[in-house]
Amino acid sequence: MDGEAKGVGLDCPLVVYAQWGCKPHLTKRLFKYSIVQMQTRPSHGYDRLTVEPLAGALGAEVFGLDFSKPMDAQTIAEIKRAFNEHLVIFFRDQEASDDDLARFARYFGELAVLPPHRQKPGSLPALLVIDKQPQDNLVFGWEWHSDTTHLETPPLGSVLAARLLPPVGGDTLFANQYLAYDTLSEGMKRMLGPLKAVHSNGRILSTLEADDVLPPGEGFGSKLTNLSAVHPVVRTHPDTGKKALFVNTLHTERFQDMSIAESTPLLRFLYEHSTRPEFTCRFRWRAGSIAFWDNRCCQHLALDDYPGQRRLMHRVQVRGNRPV
Ligand code: SIN
Repeated sequence: MDGEAKGVGLDCPLVVYAQWGCKPHLTKRLFKYSIVQMQTRPSHGYDRLTVEPLAGALGAEVFGLDFSKPMDAQTIAEIKRAFNEHLVIFFRDQEASDDDLARFARYFGELAVLPPHRQKPGSLPALLVIDKQPQDNLVFGWEWHSDTTHLETPPLGSVLAARLLPPVGGDTLFANQYLAYDTLSEGMKRMLGPLKAVHSNGRILSTLEADDVLPPGEGFGSKLTNLSAVHPVVRTHPDTGKKALFVNTLHTERFQDMSIAESTPLLRFLYEHSTRPEFTCRFRWRAGSIAFWDNRCCQHLALDDYPGQRRLMHRVQVRGNRPV
């Protein structure tokens, strides 16, 4: 076993070494090696903002902003820089109306109006109301995903604001998909390079049906339709030029031109790999908290750990381009 593990080389995913029963000292060395690659860069050179990284892999809290007021060009440029460097940025103690969230999102592009959905549309067409009621069994976004990758042009990013929180629980987790890609072996990168995957909303629809969440008859549930899109398995971020893994448990069905049975083993590995704990950060919401994540290079998951409680969030999305 040892011989096989050594033969693969340093760029082999760590998890495989662990499964092969690699010697502890070797695993430790590899672990240190991969952590070195993951250090979040220190946040110097901001004039308008204070940017404090939240974890080694991604995520930063950004201070010095007031969502209730328009922001000037330099401030917006600094937010864009923090967004590109940290992938998901968080703001505290904001009194932001839905219109304030929409104005903020528009600094990054047009608002994206999503197709009919489980959530009831609010007054703004682009507003998604994520309302988990005490009696609900399902939490919206309960598995690792990038938002609505079953669309031809999934959103660039989403702005999510806490409106009503459970006393404890309901955190959101994020995972860095540049790291997920960078830490794959060269052989795996070569294999994934030309592959495309089919994404759909099929799992969401069947889970909602199985859970009796879809309202019968005329409700907005009746407007739900099957949607699917084909995207590259590895996409290149248009601003940073970096490559990110782009498959997720909630929406990815299979590789293009392959069956589900053929695709599943490799997809399973990629799902596990892309959400390794050391690629993640975890955000604890408070009243007035807002998150803005980059859907092109991170995944997220809404933690389902507050049964019997309500949690109300408002989200707007920025329109994205077709992944390449
Ligand atoms: C989502 O946008 O997937 C939901 C995230 C959350 O509610 O924490």
